[in-house]
Amino acid sequence: MCALVSLRRTAIVLCAVALIFFPWLAVSAQSANVSPTPPMGWNSWNHFGEKVNDADVRAAADAMVASGMRDAGYIYVNIDDTWEGKRDAQGNIHANSKFPDMKALADYVHSKGLKFGIYSSPGPKTCGGYEGSYGHEQQDANTYAKWGVDYLKYDLCSYESIMDMWDLNHPSKPVTVMRQQKALAMMQQAYEKMHRSLLSTHRPIVYSFCQYGIGSVWKWAPEMGGNLWRTTDDIRDNYRSMSLIGFSQAGLEKYAGPGHWNDPDMLEIGNGGMTPDQYRTQMSLWAILAAPLLAGNDLSKMDATTKSILMNKEVIAVDQDKLGIQGKRIAPLQIWMKPLSGGAKAVAIFNTILDDQAIPITLQLEDAGFTGPVHARDLWAHKDLGILQSSYTVVPPPGGVVMLRLWQ
Ligand code: GLA
Repeated sequence: MCALVSLRRTAIVLCAVALIFFPWLAVSAQSANVSPTPPMGWNSWNHFGEKVNDADVRAAADAMVASGMRDAGYIYVNIDDTWEGKRDAQGNIHANSKFPDMKALADYVHSKGLKFGIYSSPGPKTCGGYEGSYGHEQQDANTYAKWGVDYLKYDLCSYESIMDMWDLNHPSKPVTVMRQQKALAMMQQAYEKMHRSLLSTHRPIVYSFCQYGIGSVWKWAPEMGGNLWRTTDDIRDNYRSMSLIGFSQAGLEKYAGPGHWNDPDMLEIGNGGMTPDQYRTQMSLWAILAAPLLAGNDLSKMDATTKSILMNKEVIAVDQDKLGIQGKRIAPLQIWMKPLSGGAKAVAIFNTILDDQAIPITLQLEDAGFTGPVHARDLWAHKDLGILQSSYTVVPPPGGVVMLRLWQ
């Protein structure tokens, strides 16, 4: 906000004074302060779906602490769709009977040193057919702030029919360019409206756009106040869905940075539809992508393998690196690289072949931007590999990955 003010001395002094007395102004520009690194936590949708209730969320918070996930960096406990009840005569939203006291639940989550997230839609109905925020944006933002909400996922859902623009992604259909532009502008305004509503509560709230990437959201979401935005349709708990989504992020790296992140959807690790190697691929790829790490499994029932994948601190450190640079593909055989602070680089070498013999894949160090030998550490084997001269050849398991940290 202060950056917008003229740089004259009096303006600078006024800004400094304003920030001392109203520190929330510092976060109010959706600056990097709200999510300086990609948000980490848990979301109810992938495992619990429409059945999620108060007890499930409390159990998730308990497990986040007991398992060590909180200490590994997972902080947000996010309720997805289906918590919404009816509005009262004044238009205030209430939770449904699955969530008897939302404020008490938020207090419980906070008492564990965690943060509390919630879900709504700019449309009249959410994707699950529950009450959305359409026409009640400020009122809902005020309610969330009163409950102690720290994170809002805002899901387009029924707002698509308000936009009357189903064909935004299908230009071949007979829709005029003007109509497309109008629909896009309406969507942007709807997202910005909630952004302004959240700001005026003066509570820092991470703002997550969920509209499946429509209209190249990564190009305009930061301007509309988004801290993260879904880039694709919903993920499923299988290798095909996860790898299609993950590897299709190539090219979006220039849109991410501290405070504004591409979101290829939540983690499926621990949900049972993939092998441990394939889940290691999701964890590694999401870390290379500087993607939000929102676990989507039942945290109260994790086996040792699931814990070891979700809580690999060396991989988490790649995701959470303070430079906030999203990695990119550096070689056709799915070799990806993410620059890290201090000049180090994370490199992930993926084997995407599931139904044939695994083949050796060679990383050329110069493709990762190194000239001369490098130190190498294997982040899944947790072991130093010594010095690499000019290349490194490995055979990652089918659907699996070898992930390295390289430095000179
Ligand atoms: C959409 C979103 C999902 C989930 C559901 C809930 O499909 O993309 O992540 O929030 O809605 O209804």
